[in-house]
Amino acid sequence: QQLLHSTLPDAEVLIVSNREPYIHNRDGDRTEVQIPASGLVSALEPVMRACGGTWIAHGSGNADRDTVDSHDRIEVPPDHPSYRLRRIWITDEEQDGFYYGFANEGMWPLCHIAFVRPTFRESDWKAYQRINERFAAAVVEEAKTDNPIVLVQDYHFALAPRMIRDRLPKATIITFWHIPWPNAETFSICPWKEQIIDGLLGSTILGFHTQFHCNNFFETVDRFVESRIDREHATVTLSGHETMVRAYPISIEWPPAALDGQPPVETCRREVREALGLAADVRIAVGIERFDYTKGILDRMKAVDDLLTRQPQWKRQLVFVQVAAPTRSKLSSYSTLQDDAVALADDINRRHGSDGYKPIVLLIRHHSAREVFKLFRAADVCIVSSLHDGMNLVAKEFAAARDDERGVLVLSSFTGASRELSEALIVNPYHVHETATALDTALRMPEHEQQERMRAMRQQIREWNVYRWAGRMLIDAATSRRRQRILDLAE
Ligand code: G6P
Repeated sequence: QQLLHSTLPDAEVLIVSNREPYIHNRDGDRTEVQIPASGLVSALEPVMRACGGTWIAHGSGNADRDTVDSHDRIEVPPDHPSYRLRRIWITDEEQDGFYYGFANEGMWPLCHIAFVRPTFRESDWKAYQRINERFAAAVVEEAKTDNPIVLVQDYHFALAPRMIRDRLPKATIITFWHIPWPNAETFSICPWKEQIIDGLLGSTILGFHTQFHCNNFFETVDRFVESRIDREHATVTLSGHETMVRAYPISIEWPPAALDGQPPVETCRREVREALGLAADVRIAVGIERFDYTKGILDRMKAVDDLLTRQPQWKRQLVFVQVAAPTRSKLSSYSTLQDDAVALADDINRRHGSDGYKPIVLLIRHHSAREVFKLFRAADVCIVSSLHDGMNLVAKEFAAARDDERGVLVLSSFTGASRELSEALIVNPYHVHETATALDTALRMPEHEQQERMRAMRQQIREWNVYRWAGRMLIDAATSRRRQRILDLAE
């Protein structure tokens, strides 16, 4: 907040994202508030709480749909209101085209090289354009000044930056792409690649998690759009408008709110084992995420299988707890994964289990941040085996949860996080045997080594927390505004 006021006095902040930070669902007379499982939400919510402003997002709960019209705003968070939420309602048919279709059957598999074939339909593209228009119009409606700072989030809104720029030419538009950007050849699969690139180049600043993704973006622009690329200054100029393209690795708040009031690690260990019906000395490895095919959930279960096959002494000593929040289940690529995971867990449990011992515990439901942190604190190992991931905040949350400086992180080399958390045991998740070996190493790691590694990772996350992520973008935004002001004066 301080940074915002000192570097950008009087600036108005608006966020555009598909996912809303608070979902209100009515169940009879009760309204339940749910915080969605989304890396994007967990990163931006603390920033928004600190700096205030308006968050424009798709209204996904059922509670306010009939009572609150599309132009109403509510103050959130419910207990300490500090910013406004403007919900955009989207019909089921639009949602099929925009969210399930273009965003999640097109852009998501296209950008994550996870070998699920991207599907591009003309009708989805139309819905995507229409919804981007609707959000851009909401930004213009909400803006009180002609030069707000607009934070556009993710692959759902590649067209919105240009649409906002056309209506608010002086706006500072910071677009952040939360998923990877593939190489030019892969991106060329998208039938509307030129329009997607043109839309993004309406931004003042375009952010990716890693330099590697920025480089892929530059190559894609170079190949498909007539523009001037200045690699040295990391800019692309299209029709006289300059966009800075930079890496801003996303992170989490420090200290994390979910750590507040958590019982000591020993208590968490005991209570979680009791709740799962496990003996006090059983070792626990955890995996926690949305049930997404990019996360390598089957691959890590196969690694547990491999370990128990090669080293049967771990039987009855080790339980792998996979928490998976159902997500995008309407798409067959997701429902099939869920079925496959259940079948694989059953098969592994049948082959390696006995007398009530089940090596794999699969918990398919949404867990609150507090429950997740408790599980992290109870675990010996956390496995993040994404096949491809822009950053992966689970890895950072696990380290943040371990204020006892114990526990081992097994981390896929295909996550943005692996570039920052080099003290984790880095694995290729496609190599089952390698992941199994890392799991074995993790389970045998002496305490002092755990401490050394965990301390270094915690230090990195503490320093490069989410406020720094947002702060670096805002400082670059301030520089760009200053330059623009000088250019305006000179005119
Ligand atoms: C990823 C995306 C986010 C998205 C989240 C949850 O982290 O980058 O934009 O919100 O997944 O997915 P969902 O489809 O449930 O919003």
